[in-house]
Amino acid sequence: MTGRAVAVLELDDIQRGVLSPRPSPYAATYVLFRIDDRAHGRELMRRLSTAVTSAADTTSPLGETWVSVALTHHGLAALGVPRESLETFSWEFGQGMAARARALGDVGESAPENWETPLGTSEVHVVLVAIAPDDTRLEAALDRARPAYHALPGVTAIWRQDCHALSTETEPFGYRDGISHPAVEGSGIAGSNSLETPLRAGEFVLGYPDELGGLQIPQPEVLGRNGSYAVFRKLHQRVAAFRRYLRDNAADPADEEWLAAKIMGRWRSGAPLALSPGRDDPALGADPSRNNVFGYERDDPAGFTTPGGCHIRRGNPRDAAVAGVPRLHRMIRRGTAYGPPLPEGVLEDDGADRGLMFAFIGAHLGRQFEFVQSEWMNDGVFFGAGGARDPVVGSGDGSGDFTIPRRPLRRCLRGLPRFVVTRGGEYCFMPSLSALRWL
Ligand code: HEM
Repeated sequence: MTGRAVAVLELDDIQRGVLSPRPSPYAATYVLFRIDDRAHGRELMRRLSTAVTSAADTTSPLGETWVSVALTHHGLAALGVPRESLETFSWEFGQGMAARARALGDVGESAPENWETPLGTSEVHVVLVAIAPDDTRLEAALDRARPAYHALPGVTAIWRQDCHALSTETEPFGYRDGISHPAVEGSGIAGSNSLETPLRAGEFVLGYPDELGGLQIPQPEVLGRNGSYAVFRKLHQRVAAFRRYLRDNAADPADEEWLAAKIMGRWRSGAPLALSPGRDDPALGADPSRNNVFGYERDDPAGFTTPGGCHIRRGNPRDAAVAGVPRLHRMIRRGTAYGPPLPEGVLEDDGADRGLMFAFIGAHLGRQFEFVQSEWMNDGVFFGAGGARDPVVGSGDGSGDFTIPRRPLRRCLRGLPRFVVTRGGEYCFMPSLSALRWL
């Protein structure tokens, strides 16, 4: 390594939800609040500061259970944070997700005018997230947070999304998720790819040096230090359409699974094509010591095994030579499936709402989340595929292609529809515990 100084993270001041891996499996509930009365809003923050656990506190009596709190730009204003301070936050945060819709590919069905009410409006001020290994302990976590907003007439719960614990860690399209995570210097939390040099803490937590040597400090310093930006997106998944598309484009069931793996870059079991190119290997997929230890540049620069356009190579090109420096666009991802799983084998839409509550955590909304979403998910220029979009989450309109380079034969999937529709979301700021008390 470079011999650079490693920042000592103040874990007792950082919300646990920022750095700690989630239990597996786990359930989550998102509750959004509107603040109509500044004094009551500040009282809410003060009370929540005692319910929120820190990254240092891993000994909760409820086990792997915690709550996190985040605020929108409108939320900070509703609490009375002065304009001079609000202007020191990142530009994208000030704009909010709905205003960034075009850049994010949230057009057509995914456009803000079609989002669930009140997502993306000036009404959303506070986001409370409770995490627990099962539904019973989730209720206990919510019970712990409830006194904080109970009997505060100026604070209203305006939206709620429950994500029940699934018996597997499978997202609705049927792939194992939650595998690849970055290592963060000074956090004591190892990443899942031992080939990757840990990233500087300032990539994910404000107030520490980042990969570019900068210090990101919104003012006053109590707001800038030990906080992070967060993105929440409710992403509806068209599971029946995804299954049907694979079925219609495959020669037989084995070919169907092969196409599913090429599109994702991993077999559904989580086994990466990079380590198991010819067939699925469920034992590898389930083994956290092996299922993420690979790169692309040495063995597969042209994408013969893991296509350049597949979801995981777009999301993190790792060591591959692409336009851009992959290290500068890493993110902490915390997706949680919601809605009833579509029963195995069903190819017709049953009308149920199911998908992923996607969560991003990092210090740079622009060069991390927005860059990956707009340049890597919704464009293909960076790896030489023109305007091709991500085959799983891209804002497809029925005209997109996905190319599987030769070996044995070049295949091209055509007419990719949109499989994921944005139902709403918010750009948020997750304050430190001392900032919660200060607010
Ligand atoms: C990885 C599914 C949306 C970025 C993955 C994996 C799955 C998956 C199954 C592989 C497991 C893992 O590496 O942990 C989905 C689904 C989505 C979705 C079903 C939408 C419904 C997004 C979005 C972004 C994103 C919107 C970014 C803007 C990533 C990244 C990785 C990843 C960075 C890790 C790649 C790596 O390090 O190898 N996703 N994803 N995903 N996804 Fe997504």
